[in-house]
Amino acid sequence: MQNQLNFNRSIEKEMLTKNKKIVEVDLKKQETLKQSGEIPIHIAIIMDGNGRWAQKRSLPRVAGHREGVESVRDMVEVCGQLGVKYLTLYAFSTENWKRPKEEISMLMRLLMKALRDETDKLHRNNVRVRTIGDISKLPVEVQNELLDAIVKTQNNTGLNLLLALSYSGRWDIMQAVKKISSEIKRGALNEDSINEDLVTKYLSTQGIPDPDLLVRTSGEFRVSNFLLWQLAYSEIYITELNWPEFRRDELYRAITEYQKRERRFGLTSNQIKQKQNK
Ligand code: FPP
Repeated sequence: MQNQLNFNRSIEKEMLTKNKKIVEVDLKKQETLKQSGEIPIHIAIIMDGNGRWAQKRSLPRVAGHREGVESVRDMVEVCGQLGVKYLTLYAFSTENWKRPKEEISMLMRLLMKALRDETDKLHRNNVRVRTIGDISKLPVEVQNELLDAIVKTQNNTGLNLLLALSYSGRWDIMQAVKKISSEIKRGALNEDSINEDLVTKYLSTQGIPDPDLLVRTSGEFRVSNFLLWQLAYSEIYITELNWPEFRRDELYRAITEYQKRERRFGLTSNQIKQKQNK
C-alpha cells in the first residue's frame, strides 16, 4: 500500500515536471515569434476537415467535431497569450444548413455544450465573445446560450472571439446592401455618400479591422463564402492538416510564414519600403 502510494507520488511529480517543461518551451516559442516580427491583429480561420479526420480513424463524424472543439480551445488560449486582438472562426456556414438534420443538431448541441463549459473560463481570461451571421436562424436555445456568453463577456478587453454562425460572405454583403438602401429610402443617407468605408460600416464586422491572416485547414484552396469583402488583402495560409490536428505549433508556423510575407496592398515593393522609411 505504502509502496503504491510512493509510486503514484513519484509519477505525479514526474508529470508535473514534464508539464512545466512543456509550458516553458511553449512560452519560449511565443517569445521568439513576438521578437521575429508582427503578430497579426486579426486571424480568421476556416476550420475544415473534421469529418475526414474522423473517417481516417474509422470514427463517426461527431468524433471529429468533438476533437475540433479541442483545437478551438487551444487557438483561443494561444491567441490570447500572443496578444492577437481578433480571432474569427467559421463555425457554421449558411451552406452548412444543407447538411443532414442529425449532423446539424449534433453541431448545435456541441456548440451549446462548449459555450456552457467554457464561458466562465473565457470570462476569467478577459476574452470577449461575439458573433457574426444570421443568428436568428439558430435554434432559440443556442441563441440564448450565445447571448449569455456575449453579455457576460461584453466588457472584456482581451481577445475578441468572433464566432461566424449561419454566416456567409454573400449574406453579409447582401444584408449591408439592404440596410444601406433602406437608409437611402428614409432619407438618412445619400447615394453619393456610398464608398468603401461606408459599406464596411454596414457589414457584420463593423468596427473590426480586416483579417491580416486567413488560415484554412485540410488542404483546400478555397475561400468558401467566408469574409468575402474583408479578406481583400489578407495573407492566406493553407495547411494539409485537418482541423482537429491544428494546434498551437501549426499556428506558430502560420504566423512565421505570415511574418515573411510583404504586404503590398496593391503598391510596389519600393513604395512599401519608402513608406516604412518615412
Ligand atoms: C468542418 O469540418 C467543420 C465544421 C463545419 C464545424 C466546425 C465546428 C466545430 C469545430 C465545433 C464547434 C465550434 C465551436 C466554436 C465551439 P467538416 O465537417 O466540413 O469536415 P469534412 O470536410 O472533412 O467533412
